[in-house]
Amino acid sequence: MKQPYPVTPKPRQTWCALAALTCCLLSGAAVAVDSARPWMNTALSPDARARLLEQALTLDERIALVHSPMALDLGEMAKKQAGALGSAGYVAPIERVGIPALNQTDASLGVTNPAGTRPGDSATALASGLSLAATWNPRLARASGAAIGQESHAKGFNVLLAGGANLTRDPRGGRNFEYLGEDPWLAGVMAGASIAGIQSANVVSTTKHFALNPYETGRDYHNAQIDPAALRESDLLAFQLAIERGQPGSIMCAYNKINTVYACENGPLLGDALKRDWGYKGWVMSDWGAVHSTVAAAQVLDHESGEQLDKQVFFGEPLKQAVAAGKVAPGRLSDMVQRILRSMFAVGLFDRPPVAAKIDYEAHAKLAQDAAAEGIVLLRNERNTLPLSREVKRIAVIGGNAALGVLSGGGSSQVTPTGQPPVIVPMGGNAPFDAFFRRAVWFPSAPLAAIRARAPKAEVIFDDGRYPAAAAELARSADVAIVFGTQWNGEAEDLPDLSLPQGQDALVAAVAAANPRTVVVLETGNPVDMPWLDASAAVLEAWYPGQRGGDAIADVLFGDVNPSGRLPMTFPKSLTQLPRPVLPGRGLAKGVGFDIDFNEGADVGYRWFHKSGAAPLFAFGHGLSYTSFAVSDLKVEGGKTLKVSFAVRNTGTRAGADVPQVYLSSAAGQPLRRLIGWDKVQLAPGESKRVTVEADPRLLGRFDAKSHSWKVAAGDYRVVVGASAIDNGVQGGAQLSAQTLKP
Ligand code: BGC
Repeated sequence: MKQPYPVTPKPRQTWCALAALTCCLLSGAAVAVDSARPWMNTALSPDARARLLEQALTLDERIALVHSPMALDLGEMAKKQAGALGSAGYVAPIERVGIPALNQTDASLGVTNPAGTRPGDSATALASGLSLAATWNPRLARASGAAIGQESHAKGFNVLLAGGANLTRDPRGGRNFEYLGEDPWLAGVMAGASIAGIQSANVVSTTKHFALNPYETGRDYHNAQIDPAALRESDLLAFQLAIERGQPGSIMCAYNKINTVYACENGPLLGDALKRDWGYKGWVMSDWGAVHSTVAAAQVLDHESGEQLDKQVFFGEPLKQAVAAGKVAPGRLSDMVQRILRSMFAVGLFDRPPVAAKIDYEAHAKLAQDAAAEGIVLLRNERNTLPLSREVKRIAVIGGNAALGVLSGGGSSQVTPTGQPPVIVPMGGNAPFDAFFRRAVWFPSAPLAAIRARAPKAEVIFDDGRYPAAAAELARSADVAIVFGTQWNGEAEDLPDLSLPQGQDALVAAVAAANPRTVVVLETGNPVDMPWLDASAAVLEAWYPGQRGGDAIADVLFGDVNPSGRLPMTFPKSLTQLPRPVLPGRGLAKGVGFDIDFNEGADVGYRWFHKSGAAPLFAFGHGLSYTSFAVSDLKVEGGKTLKVSFAVRNTGTRAGADVPQVYLSSAAGQPLRRLIGWDKVQLAPGESKRVTVEADPRLLGRFDAKSHSWKVAAGDYRVVVGASAIDNGVQGGAQLSAQTLKP
């Protein structure tokens, strides 16, 4: 691999040679530790090492660690610093004491190369976050995290700005594709697994954007208004779970205001919830350009990132002066630095620094394909249209640039995939960001080629879909029509509505009217409208399926993979069913502030639909298979929490995986719908397995603002084991005793 980069501090062997020698055991080998650098003693805890090292720093060195620039080439705005690899962020090393540089890169879908700052560098491009969430498979989340962690490490990066865990509260959210769905338990478990995977490669993972940042419109200044207890039960709970399970080294605070205070200076969020109540020991970094003050921010924020985007470098000279003037306590500056160092020690940045290594891109591409296939959701399958027979004679493939590749989402998470270069369609906008944010990037994994490869005997004809009448004509002449619908989403903008843009709904309708065996494949970053649904034979939601997406789609179409994806978001029938039918801030001039009232509180997504009695187009948790499953023998035990066990059996003729979901349907007499657990079970035909789910008691209770604790009321609790949030499946219940849990 041609990728020389500076690695600081120097590798361990060099350390040994330089050091005054004290020996200790490290990784099974005798390694020398510099007695002048006691923080390098791996027998000490990360906290102790961070304390020792922080105490050895000068004021200027401390200040240097708490702010940093973007490290990418963006014309006037930014330049890659000498020594930096070239990426989203860079904190220079402090060689005097051996603190390595922090080379920070985006993000959850693979290692990015923003604005092409590292010419020629590419990385494995995974499917979108929603696709990963749709697998409901935490093992896969961990494996995907480990793969991007390893790639980062081998490329020289030691901080990944990955781990997006915002709840997708609105299907118009422009960054929903980066997140993990609308439910705190699903998002928290999946994010935690992905973070743990990343950090297993000795790369710090970040979880973001903390918090209540589901909209991009006016993201720099809008005010998200919510009842604090409801916030604890929803978005904060997702983060809390992700942090408990993944132990991320850092947290990125969001751009917006929450209850009138900017996220990056928000005491209730960063000070009270994160650091005090949850005991978070890592560092809080700002989003890029999200800092608005010195003193207020310094109370709770530990690092100012992307400082060129702020009005001034608040955590540079101004912070130094504020410390000198006693406006920020020196102890607080020490705390900021110790938090950063602690995570660096805890995750292994000192002891196992990045080493240029060969990356097994083929294995990672295979993982990307398998994960994308597992994330595909079979929404509809009339008359068993799918899987397709390989004997079919004539297949019409229509639209969606299916001859070219598969779509990906835009913005800071955009990855340059390995293999053939992608096809890039600029979408215009303002320089310099839009040049790399607003681009439709097509990964060259063409579904058309993948379909042809799986049905070599068939005549597979492509029509680009520009003219619906011509596409319909082709569809009419075929045994089966596969029509693709795409919807681009990107950072910094929400969608105006849920339609497939550029007339694609009319295209799909024309094709479906012409051929009753029409299969619709969606590559979208969000739920979409389906005005043509009743006329279609089958619908697959493939999300943004990553660099092997075409193969993943074909795997499912032909039954090489039995679909096991389940929706991580509710698909509404119309915008009128949402808590905010009108997109907040839409139409306002840039810079004009506005409030977003999250009156639905913790009743996000399917919980809102349950409460309002609205019937969705497709429910959260929905997803079909080429086989069938049955749940039986439900047993529910109560006491301190609910322990739910049941048998699940494959009642069909193909092997497949089921995702039985356990929902609370009433809590101490209150009807509701809340996911409290699930399992993903692989079953051969006729095979049966027993599943046990034990609920996290916080999912059974409410956050009580008065006592500042979780309260589970005594009483009768009912559960449903179902195939989605609206399935009344198999029901049972048990008694719980009263319980108070710490915040
Ligand atoms: C995004 C973050 C990202 C950062 C650095 C910001 O625009 O909101 O998610 O990590 O840029 O690229």
